[in-house]
Amino acid sequence: MTVTAPVPTRSSTVFAPRPFRVTRRRQDTRDTVTLTLASADGEPLAFAAGQFTMVYAFGVGEVPLSISGDPTRSGSLLHTVRDVGGVTHTLTQLRRGAVVGIRGPYGHGWDVADGKGGDVVLVAGGIGLAPLRPALLEILAHRGDYNRVVLLYGTRTPEDVLYGHELERWRGRFDLDVDVTVDYGPPQWRGKVGLVTGLIPRAGFDPGRTLALVCGPEAMMRHVAAALVDRGVERSRIRLSMERAMDCGVGLCGHCQLRELFVCVDGPVFGFDRVERLLWLREV
Ligand SMILES: Cc1cc2nc3c(=O)[nH]c(=O)nc-3n(C[C@H](O)[C@H](O)[C@H](O)COP(=O)(O)OP(=O)(O)OC[C@H]3O[C@@H](n4cnc5c(N)ncnc54)[C@H](O)[C@@H]3O)c2cc1C
Ligand code: FES
Repeated sequence: MTVTAPVPTRSSTVFAPRPFRVTRRRQDTRDTVTLTLASADGEPLAFAAGQFTMVYAFGVGEVPLSISGDPTRSGSLLHTVRDVGGVTHTLTQLRRGAVVGIRGPYGHGWDVADGKGGDVVLVAGGIGLAPLRPALLEILAHRGDYNRVVLLYGTRTPEDVLYGHELERWRGRFDLDVDVTVDYGPPQWRGKVGLVTGLIPRAGFDPGRTLALVCGPEAMMRHVAAALVDRGVERSRIRLSMERAMDCGVGLCGHCQLRELFVCVDGPVFGFDRVERLLWLREV
């Protein structure tokens, strides 16, 4: 007997958001805020590192946002939001007690466990650290299962560095290598200046047994993936989290289509071998 998965339609409940209340708002940088959300019905939202939800600012609109919380702990839902337009501006202005609608979690995540027994290198650009944070927290929760773990992080300026306190804690760990660089550093900046790709040649990992997780602006991901390939990491062991404008989030509307792939259901995380030739396609 053939069993067919139910196909969601516009009228089905996948489009009904669940109400979540803001329990904490943290201003991370000038334009970026992390919201801690709790479901109104008390039912926590389980998710895998790299998945996203559709977040509805009532009366304004709905946007896809990666989950930036810890997948190994149930409870609150965390989203780190950068103010770039109508919906994200509204979300970054929300205060404690405000209610948003949540659909999901959706999409295919990092599958971090595929890196067990080898090295893992995470390369983040700007707000790309937010979708990678759950992956790193999952690795740290099972640290003994991995060899070297390396986080390479690049932002435009020191003021754009996300999760500053947590980065300091991570830097203090003996079992995690953290390297941070900025594109433009003021005279008082004592850290590195330059693109994040510049950190790859000297980072301490064995390319032949490395899983690489990359998230950031598309141009950055192209260059990072090329630098990882140059170092000897297999294309299928390099994973990128792609962003495309989304409407339904569940494979129905076609907004997020990248040739034969739908970013919302086939991704957002893809192997570089699968999307290398699609990385140059503009959004429709
Ligand atoms: C799977 C996925 C995960 C994401 N995770 C996060 C996250 O964790 N945090 C976060 O802040 N943002 C994230 N984004 C991007 C976020 O969805 C967009 O910034 C948002 O949809 C913009 O909507 P808006 O109404 O605020 O701005 P709009 O008024 O719609 O657009 C404002 C500007 O942002 C650009 N823009 C719109 N959508 C995107 C996009 N998807 N990517 C890049 N630029 C865009 C537009 O071209 C325009 O220049 C994610 C996107 C996807 C697809
Ligand atoms: S967002 Fe509708 S198909 Fe992907």
